[in-house]
Amino acid sequence: MDRTAQLVARSTERSIAYDPPGPPPSPAPSPAPSSPASPHVRAAKVLEDNWTGTSTVPSRNLYPHQWSWDSAFIAIGLRHISPLRAQTELETLLAAQWDDGRVPHIVFNPSVPLDAYFPSPDFWRSSTAGRAAGAPRTVQTSGIVQPPVHALAAWLVHRADPGLSRARGFLTRMYPRLAAWHRYLLHRRDLGGAGLASVVHPWEQGMDNSPCWDAPLARVTPAPARSFRRADLDHGAPEDRPTDLDYGRYVRLATAYRDGDYADGSGDFAVEDPAFNALLIASEHALARIAEELGATGTARQARARRLTATLVDRLWDPAGNMFFCRDVRGGELVPERAVSGLIPLLLPDLPADIASTLIRTTRSAHFGLGTSTRLVPSYDLLGEAFDPHRYWRGPAWFNTNWLLERGLRTHGEHRRADALRQAVLDIADSSDFAEYVDPYTGEACGATGFSWTAALSLDLLHSHTDPTAVKELKGGNRR
Ligand code: SER
Repeated sequence: MDRTAQLVARSTERSIAYDPPGPPPSPAPSPAPSSPASPHVRAAKVLEDNWTGTSTVPSRNLYPHQWSWDSAFIAIGLRHISPLRAQTELETLLAAQWDDGRVPHIVFNPSVPLDAYFPSPDFWRSSTAGRAAGAPRTVQTSGIVQPPVHALAAWLVHRADPGLSRARGFLTRMYPRLAAWHRYLLHRRDLGGAGLASVVHPWEQGMDNSPCWDAPLARVTPAPARSFRRADLDHGAPEDRPTDLDYGRYVRLATAYRDGDYADGSGDFAVEDPAFNALLIASEHALARIAEELGATGTARQARARRLTATLVDRLWDPAGNMFFCRDVRGGELVPERAVSGLIPLLLPDLPADIASTLIRTTRSAHFGLGTSTRLVPSYDLLGEAFDPHRYWRGPAWFNTNWLLERGLRTHGEHRRADALRQAVLDIADSSDFAEYVDPYTGEACGATGFSWTAALSLDLLHSHTDPTAVKELKGGNRR
């Protein structure tokens, strides 16, 4: 048996041992994980190929280090084939946490040449510019963050093998770090003063070139093109990637943040984003469950998560747009661009029912086309002026956002629609060779293939077929 087949075989034993019996939530049976040609084996092989020994690269060529929200999604899938690797993935990332609580968006692998990725460690200078904020001394990292999916991932990883998790003290070690991470976001990043976290760079929200940033970025003077060299274009088609103009602005913003020693509060760019905050709230719910598992009370965290959900609605819901919008904190107004980030709050269990049903209608409207013109929700408004079916976050469909929406649909009782979306993710992930993102109309692969979170989240959906606890894990109904 090769290494991938061994991991898959062991995972099957584990899910039988720990998952309570019950009816499968989805009608379509998945091929047996032991079949050599199964999507399960192919997805596991991607994760095996991208494993470095302590973490998983998102893509061998395009992203050769460890990325923060990638690792959280990867751990969610990896838990089905190796709970130990899934725990290690999160432990490696959180070992690079700064003293102020921030979890950096990239943890650099010192054995990768500097010119393999831009911006490299010598750009971020975490050990000098990050000293005041408490950057670690032993590893080099970036100085910005990414969406806080980590507590959610830690809880799901624990649930995959509670015995191993308890024996290794996994949650006992993770909890203080995750709590400090949320504290950083809720205090240092409350730049709008209403209780939500702001991102200070488009890379932090993760949807780098979303049209939502066009207006807030317009006030940033781009760094001159000759002052840096893009490594992404060595590996990705220019028409699939952000433009040079966008890169000039990304570089200017990151340089200014670094030159201010990564102190928060004064940058030109500050945006409250619905997906970033929804993920923080979902993770706060998960942190409450982790606290309970460790024998403490999760009541205060559950209450905070509910309060934050109300604040999210208050600050970012647009009744005329029928979805959530970003708020430009520097300009003060909502940004009326329809991007998938404005649908992600569907994940939240305490969302008012009328808002949840409006969001579901919006996914099916001509703006996103789910179930009519598309099988996966695109990253941006199909009718928007800036729509481009191939360019990164300006239209293509991504697998992590669709995984989140699948769970959101189930959370709000829309099982039939969730089943269809689950099947679309599985079919298109596999047929696109686990692409980074796809044309939302044709499913054509864009960006990198063999992309780790696409494979990991496919694995998770393959397992959710036989795991009736999957949705309750998010909804808060799986207490033991
Ligand atoms: N997503 C960004 C990149 O493409 C930065 O994290 O490099």
